[in-house]
Amino acid sequence: MDGDLLMAFMRIIHLSDLHFGTEEAAVTAALRQVIQSAGPDLVAVSGDFTQRGITPEFRAAQAFLGSLGVPVLSVPGNHDIPRYNLWQRFTNPYKKYRQHIHQELCPVLERGGVVVAGLNTARRALPHWNWANGAISADQLDYLADVYAKSSARYRVCVFHHPIHEAAETPIDTVVFGARRAQEALRKLKVDVVLTGHVHHASITTLGDDGHKTIYLSASTALSSRLRGQNNGFNMVEICDGELAVQVFTRGPGGFDVMESHTLRM
Ligand SMILES: [Fe+2]
Repeated sequence: MDGDLLMAFMRIIHLSDLHFGTEEAAVTAALRQVIQSAGPDLVAVSGDFTQRGITPEFRAAQAFLGSLGVPVLSVPGNHDIPRYNLWQRFTNPYKKYRQHIHQELCPVLERGGVVVAGLNTARRALPHWNWANGAISADQLDYLADVYAKSSARYRVCVFHHPIHEAAETPIDTVVFGARRAQEALRKLKVDVVLTGHVHHASITTLGDDGHKTIYLSASTALSSRLRGQNNGFNMVEICDGELAVQVFTRGPGGFDVMESHTLRM
């Protein structure tokens, strides 16, 4: 069947930087409730499930995801690699992530005319003083090209932790090794939407020309008490035949509410 002849629709809740270990129970309950009310087709999590990459934090994250009752596609963040256990960091950095969150570090999901691909940008070590930064390798871009080539879906979404785009008012600088090459590859692959986290700051950035535009969405931290200028929040993204509707939810006194709504042409 030709995917272009079918109506494409997917409602995605984009969560990031949950940082279990720093969360408050009331905020977690409010987040669960608003997600369940929204009835998404998919919850996409762009990394940092935990604060220190330890088992109790992974267990709490696993329980939260399990309680949502909807499909989840996720990638690891830098905080999901053990921080203090250096032996495990170097010998088996994603062991706990695979055990508690998902076996696959670069998962793929396709439905409703939309294909969503995750990439793991977190590394056990980097040629940089700050190993919290990230990387995208040439092999990962080849993998991504292969995923999209095998799919007939009309819209292409990519999820990873570290942002490779420059957004206005970003609260921290992020170095991503291979960022330029990745941005160029995503343009050539005609990726429509990129979902990232790490900076704890929601933003929308459109890159590209009249030939093709890629919309980069960053999410605030959903649950962490470590805020960087923005309150806890998440994005709701609806892909529907040429339009991308984005609702930015922010936590207020009564729970999570829509603070901004945008409709963008794709
Ligand atoms: Fe991070």
